[in-house]
Amino acid sequence: MGKITVAIDGYSSTGKSTIAKQLAKALNYIYVDTGAMYRAVTLYAIQHNYVGDQEDIAGLVNDLPDIKLKFVPNKALEISEMHLNGKNVEREIRNMEVSSHVSKVATIPEVRHKLVEMQQQMDTEKGIVMDGRDIGTVVFPDAELKLFMTASPEARATRRYKELLERGEVVSYEEVLENVQKRDFIDSTRKTSPLRKADDAIEFDNSDMGLAEQFERVFDYTKRIIAEKS
Ligand code: DC
Repeated sequence: MGKITVAIDGYSSTGKSTIAKQLAKALNYIYVDTGAMYRAVTLYAIQHNYVGDQEDIAGLVNDLPDIKLKFVPNKALEISEMHLNGKNVEREIRNMEVSSHVSKVATIPEVRHKLVEMQQQMDTEKGIVMDGRDIGTVVFPDAELKLFMTASPEARATRRYKELLERGEVVSYEEVLENVQKRDFIDSTRKTSPLRKADDAIEFDNSDMGLAEQFERVFDYTKRIIAEKS
């Protein structure tokens, strides 16, 4: 059976990665969370004071060749974890501090250039599900299946808030909602490859849809496209 490339884009906290992970598992494909890559560069920038009170974007750009990112499989958890310069940062990159700076870092054209190049090199043999903001428009414009996920800001903030609480983070719902809305704005108005739906992407609003139903629908689209291709 022929393998395809699946590009999943959409707003923050629309559940892209949950669906992408499930789909990759069901198809026995590779799953790549590109947000983790932008988050890891952001963590580096925070650690080196390149973002925050004393911003130094030129310093960050200058350091880009020294920023080594790697997805390392964790067999027990059945996920790949992000390693930044040899250190597992999977947990740290999901905290609110990183979330509050990541959209800014993702506007830097040199950062995008480096990460897009790495992402394109991951799809040498198809059989990949990649999620992010510019996968269907920039990284894999020829992907056979493109999904664009949306949901109301409130539905997304509620999901994200629950996730953060479960992980023991001290945050308020209002703070999370504000972060979601701010990221939507920066991600969709930036100059370099802004978040937008590719013309040939299927729009998927999951505000009122449970996980099982979402997966069933996405899996149906995928099977149909794979069958057409074979
Ligand atoms: O998917 P996420 O919420 O973990 O992504 C974090 C941020 O990274 C998001 O606010 C925008 C940026 N990003 C991007 O610009 N392009 C991508 N392909 C993936 C993420």
